Amino acid sequence: ASTRFYHFKVQTLRVTKLCQTNDIVTVNGKFPGPVIYAQEDDRVIVRVTNQTPHNTTVHWHGVRQRLSCWADGPAYITQCPIQAGRSYTYEFTLVQQKGTLLWHAHVSWLRATVHGAIVVYPKTGVPYPFPHPYEEHSLVFAEYWHKDVLRLEEDVMSSGGGAPPADAYLINGSPGPLYNCSATDVYEIAVVPGKTYLLRLVSASLNTEHFFAIADHRLTIVEADGEYTKPLTVDSLVIAPGQTINVLVQADRPIDTYDMAMAPFMSARNVPFQKTPAVAHFRYSGAGPEAPSRPAEFPAFNDSLTADFALSNLRSLNDTGVPLVVDANLLFTIGLAVEQCHSPHPNASCRGPGGGVFAAAMNNIAFVEPTVSLLQAYYDNTNGYYTEDFPGVPLKDYDFVGGAPNDTQPLNGTRVKVLEFGSRVQLVLQNTGTVGTENHPVHLHGHSFHVVGHGTGNYNPTTAQLNLADPPYMNTIGVPAGGWAAIRFVADNPGVWFMHCHLEVHASWGLAMAFVVKDGNGTMESLPHPPADLPRC
Ligand code: C2O
Repeated sequence: ASTRFYHFKVQTLRVTKLCQTNDIVTVNGKFPGPVIYAQEDDRVIVRVTNQTPHNTTVHWHGVRQRLSCWADGPAYITQCPIQAGRSYTYEFTLVQQKGTLLWHAHVSWLRATVHGAIVVYPKTGVPYPFPHPYEEHSLVFAEYWHKDVLRLEEDVMSSGGGAPPADAYLINGSPGPLYNCSATDVYEIAVVPGKTYLLRLVSASLNTEHFFAIADHRLTIVEADGEYTKPLTVDSLVIAPGQTINVLVQADRPIDTYDMAMAPFMSARNVPFQKTPAVAHFRYSGAGPEAPSRPAEFPAFNDSLTADFALSNLRSLNDTGVPLVVDANLLFTIGLAVEQCHSPHPNASCRGPGGGVFAAAMNNIAFVEPTVSLLQAYYDNTNGYYTEDFPGVPLKDYDFVGGAPNDTQPLNGTRVKVLEFGSRVQLVLQNTGTVGTENHPVHLHGHSFHVVGHGTGNYNPTTAQLNLADPPYMNTIGVPAGGWAAIRFVADNPGVWFMHCHLEVHASWGLAMAFVVKDGNGTMESLPHPPADLPRC
């Protein structure tokens, strides 16, 4: 294994999209930012220098940070932000990790533009478990607003209402020709007829899940969240913010130009939605430059059945070591709620539904971001920043099927759930909510988890069918609207680990919590010490 060094300069970049010029925050003058390339078991060292006036951090999404919790990156969870003009060096090892992952800012809503792909190749001499592709390409999906995203966040949070849709969706920084004023801002892959391509799909979107499809071509999923899957061929797939999916595409159609397109999937939505897809081109060599490209077709924007197909049928390639016995059995409700607007409520204007304000909670607790890093407070043993009473089961009754779930008026708090070192955890995520329901992509830091089951309605322990043989091994799971997902993982990585909805606006509303994984006292696996340059609050 070798060591890969990178220097990330977080900078402001002036870009023109859709005929408007704006300043966005990004890394090394590129948008999307640079790709990190490494091999399994490599050491990665990234010095991040903040050349902007805003606080920043970088999170290595899907990197399990084995015994390196201080390098994880979420602001106020494992570190304080890197302030203007300061640097912090992230160091971690990609222990038994390969595949496509992503990095992104993990403070405020900066992730909208501060993001990029991580590509981890197998060890030298180890082939892919599928025919070697002729070429590989990463496609990074994002949402773009003309408004400064920090202003956008402030406006949404102070209004109490929902987040406005993006002005455009982007594939590798380009919206494509379907938007006004972007006829030539199109990302293109040049294709040799007869060859097979590996596309590494990365969703850095902020608040929206997306369908992805290529006109007249099928997609064979071979990897999800950096872990191989049994090949699964689909016409289209849904990718949630934080997810990465590798697909093989055969260039076996007539010579022409085909759209590779992404369009929003809005599970809860029953009113029509602006749906201009972002389009990139899959252009066969020999295709005339003038001919119009062939358009991709999508399911309806709220077609949950099609959207859920891949998840329901995804299987890990190998036996992944699912814990068959569990030591901790947890049930968390996750959902949106409306709080009454009362004084002195922090949100003054109450422009949410019915004059209330949106809130979101896990087990009826809306997460409140602390003012120091939880990991630091835990390591230093300082009291007063969090409590250890995050409940293992919902505080209030819920019954999604039988009536309105009792998700309203969540309690605000910074609570953690403590897990014994090495404990085998089953966690059922039950999607509830009184304000329409939505698929919530829940992401766990510091661990991957086996998705052993999912279904609609209430989770029922006696009838739920669990797959303990070959479930997919993931880090972000779309918990279906009005349904549940069950995950299992071994809590063997000491530290403080954030778990949250990867729709950024939901996390801001409180759809988040943190686990403390205790250390294996007296073993090698104890809590690491903080690096000397760790940013302080
Ligand atoms: Cu991709 Cu906590 O984040």
